[in-house]
Amino acid sequence: MPADKSLDAGRLEARLAERLAGLRSAGLYRSLCPPTGIDLCSNDYLGLAQHPLLKSRMAAAVDQEGAGSTGSRLLRGERNCFARVERAFAAFKRTERSLYFSSGYLANLAVLTTFPEAGDVIFSDERNHASLIDGVRLSRAEKVVFPHNDPEALELLLRDVAGNGQKFVVVESLFSMDGDEAPLAEYAALCRKYRAPLIVDEAHAVGIYGERGSGLIEARGIASDVFVSVNTAGKALGVAGAFVAGSESAIEYLIQRGRPFVFSTAPPPALAAALEASLEVIEKEPERRQRLLARSTQLRTRLGLNGISQIVPMILGDNERALAVAKELQMAGFDVRAIRPPTVPEGTARLRISVNQGLSKIALDRFAEALEAAMKRETAMKAAQNP
Ligand SMILES: Cc1ncc(COP(=O)(O)O)c(C=O)c1O
Repeated sequence: MPADKSLDAGRLEARLAERLAGLRSAGLYRSLCPPTGIDLCSNDYLGLAQHPLLKSRMAAAVDQEGAGSTGSRLLRGERNCFARVERAFAAFKRTERSLYFSSGYLANLAVLTTFPEAGDVIFSDERNHASLIDGVRLSRAEKVVFPHNDPEALELLLRDVAGNGQKFVVVESLFSMDGDEAPLAEYAALCRKYRAPLIVDEAHAVGIYGERGSGLIEARGIASDVFVSVNTAGKALGVAGAFVAGSESAIEYLIQRGRPFVFSTAPPPALAAALEASLEVIEKEPERRQRLLARSTQLRTRLGLNGISQIVPMILGDNERALAVAKELQMAGFDVRAIRPPTVPEGTARLRISVNQGLSKIALDRFAEALEAAMKRETAMKAAQNP
């Protein structure tokens, strides 16, 4: 124990100041900025966050249930609306059961710390989201990171990593920062061959892909090969939280042993009520996802990019460059944000443009023009600085 506590606190203050200065000089300092301008960066892909049905159901549920849940689901925090929305979500995903968590981050921690045990091995894509990485870190299983979207490399690792434990494979179905799709059919075949349960994070796919909009698991026809999926509810579903969907026994085990479920206050019940509405809208208004994919294709074609996904990365490399282009677009009225390490690998700072179904064709064309002009100006300025 230090003799003088205030001196020690001073040392910590100095360290924090040094760290913050380091972030500033590396172009890695972040600021909290509320939305302004035309939305090209939120995850409200289907526009459900402002949907009147969701808002009215949520308001009615607050009236009836109150603002907070008052306890863990296993204590006084349980409500009928949680069970109702979980049944509805399981039906949507065509799984036996589902379980609602207060965030996707917690859902991923729960899945990865509850099912894999000591002696098991988790095979994780190198581009997986921070919540999956942290789940793997917290788990007692061993971890093997495999190259992004590379089923051949994964197969070699599955074959060569020894041990009697259970092998798990964990991937995102649509990667959050690159907007590219995982080769799900190949992974499903590998997981069958090596008897490895497949865990799929559908954060950016649920609500959008597949005939019924339930995600890429549906679209690629691999439902029977997936052990559990994690489906965030704060993105296309427009609210907050996440559903883990899977078999009766997987969900029952999470309720019994999933620490982020057991040891955390249940979400406000009104969120569950709003999510029931969200599932109804996704079923009744398929034109929202059709419009989203049409607009995404329009922007991608205009920028000369392949693919159809609503996440369009413009990789600029340098942190300062990404910040400068984002700033210029913001000044022109477009809400685009720069994404820098550690969210993306070093040297791949980018604009993560996300399309939503409410954007008009004209607005998207104007945005593409502004983007091209901003990138050109930035390149010219950089060339002038380093002749
Ligand atoms: C792929 C992926 N998984 C999980 C999460 C975490 O979800 P949540 O924001 O609900 O915590 C996110 C986004 O934040 C994500 O992009």
